[in-house]
Amino acid sequence: MQEVKIFSPATVANVACGFDVLGFCLDGIGDEMIIRKSKEKGVRIVVSEGFDLPLSVEKNIAGVSAQALYKKANPDFGFELEIYKHIKPGSGIGSSAASAIGSVFGMNLLLGNPFSQNELIEFAMKGEALASADEHADNIAPALFGGFTLVKNTKPVHILQIPTPRELYAVIVHPQIEIKTSEARSVLPQQIDLKDATTQWANLGSLVHALHTNDYTLIGESLNDVVAEPYRSKAIPNYDMLKKTAKNAGALGTSISGSGPSIFSLCEGKDIAENVNKEQIKILNSMGVPFETYVSKINTKGVTIVK
Ligand code: HSE
Repeated sequence: MQEVKIFSPATVANVACGFDVLGFCLDGIGDEMIIRKSKEKGVRIVVSEGFDLPLSVEKNIAGVSAQALYKKANPDFGFELEIYKHIKPGSGIGSSAASAIGSVFGMNLLLGNPFSQNELIEFAMKGEALASADEHADNIAPALFGGFTLVKNTKPVHILQIPTPRELYAVIVHPQIEIKTSEARSVLPQQIDLKDATTQWANLGSLVHALHTNDYTLIGESLNDVVAEPYRSKAIPNYDMLKKTAKNAGALGTSISGSGPSIFSLCEGKDIAENVNKEQIKILNSMGVPFETYVSKINTKGVTIVK
């Protein structure tokens, strides 16, 4: 195989109560990449379309993760990357993770799969760190595996795949403002109250249990974030109103997607998800901030080969 085209999906990290550890994968929203072997050694980005991102490998998230893999593999040929970004950087739906995992997934295929999935995550975290000034895998893991994932450890990488209830749908609101992950991380306190920690880990435990037992009510009751949301929601226009609207329209729960500005809601069934989307659009239209919304089933496949 000389060339592969892949689809690298958008993802929702944190999922309210699982800061830096929990995430899930979205359907139909993602980047495309063509990865090709080249005679000339090294990694080159030959196309970067969609958003104004650097072609320089050291400054591009897909390039940094690709370089990490390339150094380890040390093949006697090179790679060219064509990147077609559809996920806006700074959107909160895993734009950097899609870039970071996409390049290394494709390169590993062309090399004959010498690296394990955990190793791919390690390479991808190097790329993710360029965007967030921190290595975390809560977007990368669901982008690779699909479904819900829990990052048990990053050193060494240990990912748990969590079952996806069949009727679960996500609604995403993406106000078209950019929030840099590194900035969204800098507003968070380095210490939290023991009481808040207790609330957060109780919710995370119950959410994981609810996903295993298809308990939609418990999913909704667990979607609370007392760690990041109080600090980050202030930067998201009409956050409280959008959250309340989603609840009234039947959502199980709503919170910030990753570091924002996107907001996600989880819903039982497509009809409710469509209704939540419709009601939120009414609010969004009155706000004067451009936006996009998506209704998505949970993607249980993760990154895939297009051809
Ligand atoms: N867990 C990360 C954060 C996700 O909330 O900062 C964004 O990359």
